[in-house]
Amino acid sequence: MLTRLQEWPRTSFVREPTPLIQAPNLAQTLGRTPADVLLKMDAESGFALGGNKARKLEFELAPDRLKGATHVITCGGPQSNHARLTAAAAARLGLKCVLVVNGDTPPPHKGNAYLHRLFGAEIRPVATQKDRDPTMAEVAAEVEADGGHALVIPLGASTPLGSLGYVRAATEIDAQLRDHPHAGDTWIFVSASSCGTYAGLALGFTLLERTDVRLVGVSADISRAEILDLTERLATRAGELLGAHAPLLTGLLHPTDDYVGPGYGIHSDASEEATALLGRTEGVLLDPAYTAKTAAAMLDWAQSGRIPREDRMILWHTGGYPTALAL
Ligand SMILES: Cc1ncc(COP(=O)(O)O)c(C=O)c1O
Repeated sequence: MLTRLQEWPRTSFVREPTPLIQAPNLAQTLGRTPADVLLKMDAESGFALGGNKARKLEFELAPDRLKGATHVITCGGPQSNHARLTAAAAARLGLKCVLVVNGDTPPPHKGNAYLHRLFGAEIRPVATQKDRDPTMAEVAAEVEADGGHALVIPLGASTPLGSLGYVRAATEIDAQLRDHPHAGDTWIFVSASSCGTYAGLALGFTLLERTDVRLVGVSADISRAEILDLTERLATRAGELLGAHAPLLTGLLHPTDDYVGPGYGIHSDASEEATALLGRTEGVLLDPAYTAKTAAAMLDWAQSGRIPREDRMILWHTGGYPTALAL
């Protein structure tokens, strides 16, 4: 099954492997050894300011899917990281990009909103999230009527196909962890929203039979039940693409919605503290919507004793640098 993944057509955007680094000063603050606190830096993926979506786009924008394509269409909020990376990928592939962006007031053109335009995307504003899918379909029909062909990428590229990017990422960190042998379990904290990242990793660690991995999916917005439902559905369908039909490993998924705080993209006290701590101890920048809340969860679980002393923890940094500086 993993051989099928290696052979799957894809366009390369990520400079692989992304760094897996120790965070010794953070570890000291948490009373752990340097080997027990690691950062997996997908923020440093080497493409258009980094982040998790590039891995999914490698599969969504594979050469076989691009035959005859003139346009790529996707959607998101005004500060969407996914929209930024899609615009950059389209630019690199010589395709036009249309971004359907929701929001009732025109946002200041900072952060990702600035980069969407810099990377040459045309912006189609819509009032609400509900308008996004019908408008993407309308834009695609317009492109076809003009003799072009559009590839529509759903929100967050969190499709079964896009999730394969994170199955691949699981194999990548699995290889890196061979250089960091460890007796206890490994707790990996990763942000979950449209859940393609979480589902891909869950499927990957299942196929790798990593029974020592505990995958904590930290919600940026949705409920714990929604994370579980979305993740299981995406992982099942991604597994089918690879010819895998077994359920996810028991004890692998640990989703939580305890760290959303006041809402999507708005700091909680805990996420602000996590941002300050990672900055001060390791010179690492977190974003307010995703990685700050994921780090807040990891710090809380470490400090409250939910991660046993013999285990180690990894913060999977999924990016978001532009919003870290723009919001
Ligand atoms: C920086 C960052 N981290 C994490 C996520 C969440 O990933 P997913 O949508 O695959 O759950 C996103 C999604 O937009 C993101 O931009």
